[in-house]
Amino acid sequence: MNSSTLTLDHPPSSPEAATLPSEPRGLPGVGHLLYLARNPLGYMLQLSRTQGDLIRLSIRGRPVYVLNHPDLVEQVLVADSRKFRRAGNDTMSEVLGQGLLTSDGELWRRQRRAIQPAFHHERIARYCDFFVESTRDYLLPLRDGEVRDIHADMQRLTLQNVARVLFDVGVEQDMEAVKTSLDTILARFDHHWLGLLPAWLLRSVERRYRAASATLDRIVRRHILERQQSGLQGEDLLSMLLQARDADGSGMSEQQVRDEILTLIMAGHETTASALTFVWYLLSRHPEVEARLHAELEAVLGGRPPTVAELQRLPYLDKILQESLRLYPPAFALLDRFPMEDVTLAGVRIPKDTEVQVWPWLQHRDPRFWEEPDRFDPERWNQDGARQRHRFSFYPFGGGTRLCIGVRFAQMEMALMVATIAQRYRLTALPGQREPRLHASITLRAKDRLSLRFVARSATTSRTGLLHSYG
Ligand code: HEM
Repeated sequence: MNSSTLTLDHPPSSPEAATLPSEPRGLPGVGHLLYLARNPLGYMLQLSRTQGDLIRLSIRGRPVYVLNHPDLVEQVLVADSRKFRRAGNDTMSEVLGQGLLTSDGELWRRQRRAIQPAFHHERIARYCDFFVESTRDYLLPLRDGEVRDIHADMQRLTLQNVARVLFDVGVEQDMEAVKTSLDTILARFDHHWLGLLPAWLLRSVERRYRAASATLDRIVRRHILERQQSGLQGEDLLSMLLQARDADGSGMSEQQVRDEILTLIMAGHETTASALTFVWYLLSRHPEVEARLHAELEAVLGGRPPTVAELQRLPYLDKILQESLRLYPPAFALLDRFPMEDVTLAGVRIPKDTEVQVWPWLQHRDPRFWEEPDRFDPERWNQDGARQRHRFSFYPFGGGTRLCIGVRFAQMEMALMVATIAQRYRLTALPGQREPRLHASITLRAKDRLSLRFVARSATTSRTGLLHSYG
């Protein structure tokens, strides 16, 4: 245990403690399922404050262990990662097949090697101009004072970005079909997880889900076919996947290419859109932070569109993004892990194939590691704070070998989008608007539609005549 980051009000279990952690009491018959269905984030947070470093629950009669200390997270994701397999739920595999997110073992290693070059630092730097351009295009038709559903807008933008820069395809013509299908599929993740719906409702959810899944499948396969027929050999990931060859000269099957595209589109847009939504929400509630951001943007960019090279000179923007990801990690829980042999966690023997859950949400709000964990305070990201911190007290992108492949992509995309929008607009809350409730779907989202007003920053507040530089 890393004692420098611990306070003693909640000491870690000693390694000798060979007894099972006591299990919090659930409701008769349904155990913890009802609490988890109603309010998973609140319930788990409550358990994390009252239970030990390893939380034991029974879900549908099976034991599930939830890690409640960063040392245990490090053990599972890094030190002992080879002893664990990772599994998405059935819905995820049904939709995504055997893409990077849902595959494991040798197939995953081969695919990760094939896809990694598309996320090389230099490549991402090339994508950045497009991120700025698409954001500026988004702003062009907006009117001063317009009220927008911010999550829907961020979703459209990030979807368009990932499709264009990775696969060189425009989704504009398919945007509504893709967005509606993705929303339907995401909704099914909730229903599947709860397993509490009556049969008739489940059937209707299933029907809509299958139609949505078929629509996405058709669109992705159409793009693959068009590329194959065009004979074009571009530098984008779609071309790379179609040209990839194994040592024995065999190529990737069309099904595998389809799985990877869908995986990257799904994993690469909804997470970033949800992260951006919370950034705008926090900025709309913290005008003092917003004002400092504006001052930094003006001092560094002076009204010019941001470039990737200049991101390093925007440290306050970076702090805002980090702090927002801490409070609202889009991947609030990682995919389930299952040990492939018996393992010991916090002195407790966990039999092979037992479900182990890893929730960044819990470590990000753990008062043992964060002072006033629920407070939005970008200043906690100053150098000193960062040095003392446990590596796994903050891990919005996961860690170890299964670290998010899109981590740099997402960080740059978010920074450039926020800078570009904040240069021109303030996003303000509507009068009497309530705090949005949180919804733990496959990603963390605002449950209620978050509408924000775009208020043009007047030329008088911008010392540099910012508005004119956008023409
Ligand atoms: C703020 C944005 C994002 C967040 C918070 C995020 C978070 C994560 C996390 C936590 C994991 C690990 C899951 C686990 O270990 O169970 C992951 C994996 C993954 N992410 Fe992201 N992600 C983001 C953006 C992106 C983007 C932009 C892309 C692609 C364009 C992407 C593609 C993937 C893929 C393919 C995996 C699976 C990697 C593997 O297992 O090899 N993500 N992401």
